[in-house]
Amino acid sequence: MNAGQTFLADKPVLVTGGAGFIGAHLVERLLKDGHAVVVIDDLSTGSIDNLKAVARHPRLHFIQSQISSYRALDELVASASYVFHLAAAVGVELVLKSSVHTITNNLNETQAVFAAALPHRTPVMLASTSEVYGRSPKATFSETDDLVIGPPQIGRWSYACSKLLDEFLGLAHHREDALPTTIVRLFNTVGPRQSGRYGMVLPRFIDAARRGLPLRVYGHGRQTRCFCHVSDTVEAMVRLKNSPEAVGEVFNVGNPEITSIAALARAVIELLGSQSTIEPVEYSEVFQSGFEDMQHRQPDISKLERATGFQPQIPLCEIIRRTAESMPPLE
Ligand SMILES: NC(=O)c1ccc[n+]([C@@H]2O[C@H](COP(=O)([O-])OP(=O)(O)OC[C@H]3O[C@@H](n4cnc5c(N)ncnc54)[C@H](O)[C@@H]3O)[C@@H](O)[C@H]2O)c1
Repeated sequence: MNAGQTFLADKPVLVTGGAGFIGAHLVERLLKDGHAVVVIDDLSTGSIDNLKAVARHPRLHFIQSQISSYRALDELVASASYVFHLAAAVGVELVLKSSVHTITNNLNETQAVFAAALPHRTPVMLASTSEVYGRSPKATFSETDDLVIGPPQIGRWSYACSKLLDEFLGLAHHREDALPTTIVRLFNTVGPRQSGRYGMVLPRFIDAARRGLPLRVYGHGRQTRCFCHVSDTVEAMVRLKNSPEAVGEVFNVGNPEITSIAALARAVIELLGSQSTIEPVEYSEVFQSGFEDMQHRQPDISKLERATGFQPQIPLCEIIRRTAESMPPLE
């Protein structure tokens, strides 16, 4: 990895947030596909360790900086063939603790990326989120569904709203300025190197099961979720990058295999051969009062499949195994 000023022979792909969980997997994949890659990341939630496997790669250039305060941002984006914009404030616990940071970070940085992309019409893929579907009572979500966002008194919706405004901005730039933008609404993505620090359920459960501690299931546990292995998420993003049909469009990206959170906890305990128990926990013990959780959230990925032929390859039991195997030994 080159941290100084380096001449890159090919027009590189720029990955914002490339030292994050999904970003680092995407970077590895792009390098494997033969691209030169530039990462810009302020390491606020990401880590340079996430890029350890490719640290010495001659086609990787790493810039440690906040996007909007990077003085050569215009040149950086102008010199890129494509921008994957993943940098954002992420994770329910982080969002609840720091809503101001979430809103300003997710709006300002995205605005800066689009503004820098405009002069050369550099294509941008924006990583949005299934959170934008809000608290709609539907179980399965399609890209043209109404979005039912909760009120601003409830902090968690700041993340969804900031990402939704990013989506509006990206699509408006596409319509008004012919900027080639693609929006991906990522549903829960999991896999090696995901941090449990910010309330992500699977790494939290696996960590507890390995330590023989109770798996804390928030609420009644009957709420259902879907989990997509990060290699499948990356595959979908790469296919969309290469699909002319994806420009100016919004796509769900996820794995429609469904599980309740209680069933997920049981599966983790069983697959890891753990002696852990399951401990129900009231939401009010963990989050601010008035916290709302969605009952169901499953992606309809038929649009993605039509555009790219994508089908997720890794089932949930395999996701749990691979994530557990990739965790460092217990201290
Ligand atoms: N992981 C999921 O399940 C999931 C689900 C839906 C959407 N997403 C979206 O995918 C993207 C990546 O998420 P992730 O899970 O890899 O999270 P992550 O926290 O691991 O990655 C985000 C990265 O962005 C960096 N970053 C944040 N603000 C920055 C800034 N202003 N300037 C430069 N770098 C900055 C962080 O340091 C981090 O490396 C995010 O946009 C997130 O909203 C993720």
